[in-house]
Amino acid sequence: MTKRVIVTGGSGLAGKWVVEDLVKHGYEVLNLDRVPMPQRTARTLIADITDAGQVFNAIASTTAPVEFADDLEPKPIDAIVHFAAIPRIMLTTDNEVYRINVMSTYNILDAASKLGVRKVIVASSETTYGVVFAHRHRDPAYFPLDEDYPVDPMDSYATSKVVNEVTAKAFQARTGSDIYCFRIGNVLDPDDYAKFSTWLKDPALRKRIAWSYIDGRDLANACRLAIETDGLGFEIMNVAADDVSSDQPTQVLLDRYYPGVPVKKALGEFETLLSNEKLKRLLGWRQQHYWRDEVKRFNP
Ligand SMILES: NC(=O)c1ccc[n+]([C@@H]2O[C@H](COP(=O)([O-])OP(=O)(O)OC[C@H]3O[C@@H](n4cnc5c(N)ncnc54)[C@H](O)[C@@H]3O)[C@@H](O)[C@H]2O)c1
Repeated sequence: MTKRVIVTGGSGLAGKWVVEDLVKHGYEVLNLDRVPMPQRTARTLIADITDAGQVFNAIASTTAPVEFADDLEPKPIDAIVHFAAIPRIMLTTDNEVYRINVMSTYNILDAASKLGVRKVIVASSETTYGVVFAHRHRDPAYFPLDEDYPVDPMDSYATSKVVNEVTAKAFQARTGSDIYCFRIGNVLDPDDYAKFSTWLKDPALRKRIAWSYIDGRDLANACRLAIETDGLGFEIMNVAADDVSSDQPTQVLLDRYYPGVPVKKALGEFETLLSNEKLKRLLGWRQQHYWRDEVKRFNP
């Protein structure tokens, strides 16, 4: 049976991997984005998802790949992966970051709930932990950062993501459907591994993100597992690699850059500070792309 998935933001850095992985696994995918997808892995419907009318119309539309397909009758959507957003501060004004991220997510969740879409994956962010875009340096309350952490950001982007998680929880309570929010770490494309030659020399460059990373292909895999794992209700899960993006052991990084921050568990030598234990436990996710292997393409 064809599984129909709408991906928002599929023309972007992370979303393109989600589209590619789903298409590769036999899903019929429609990309909703303001701009076309250069790779054209799936059809893009140009839409501004801050406009509720466009969102309701898009979700009620056909996902057929071409206009001359045999059947253009709209069919039910099995899942939405909602990635479209302004992905950080300082790209546009703070109020626009907040408005676009909050209203687009409200519209997607509202339309999904009213049009009967029973599964939505929402891109949240590690910035919700309040360290990444803090106005001035700020230590977290503890490491590793896990989903029980009392999130308390101060910037417009991370605040929009916290609001989106609250909105997602509210819609899930109405419908009893599955809504999973992914607190995603720093997303890397294959070419980004070339930057490790700079990053390894100065660990301070990645201090604010606590040396997190996630390969876009591993993130896409987490999205597909989420689509294929039913019945969890509302859940928040960190999506991060098993290891820190540094050749320094985790404890060495902590002693140097975060002295005095309580550490809640015994850590492995290079263990991530953005816990992925829940993602593994609930979805059975396993990392496939480790930076130590990926950088070999650049330093043979
Ligand atoms: N890149 C990261 O390291 C990272 C980390 C954590 C979370 N995230 C989240 O993951 C998601 C994807 O991030 P990304 O890095 O791929 O960003 P990106 O900017 O590369 O892609 C986002 C896409 O959303 C589209 N978009 C923006 N506003 C839109 C609107 N109003 N209507 C329709 N489409 C719109 C853009 O055109 C773009 O193609 C975002 O929600 C982001 O906040 C990203």
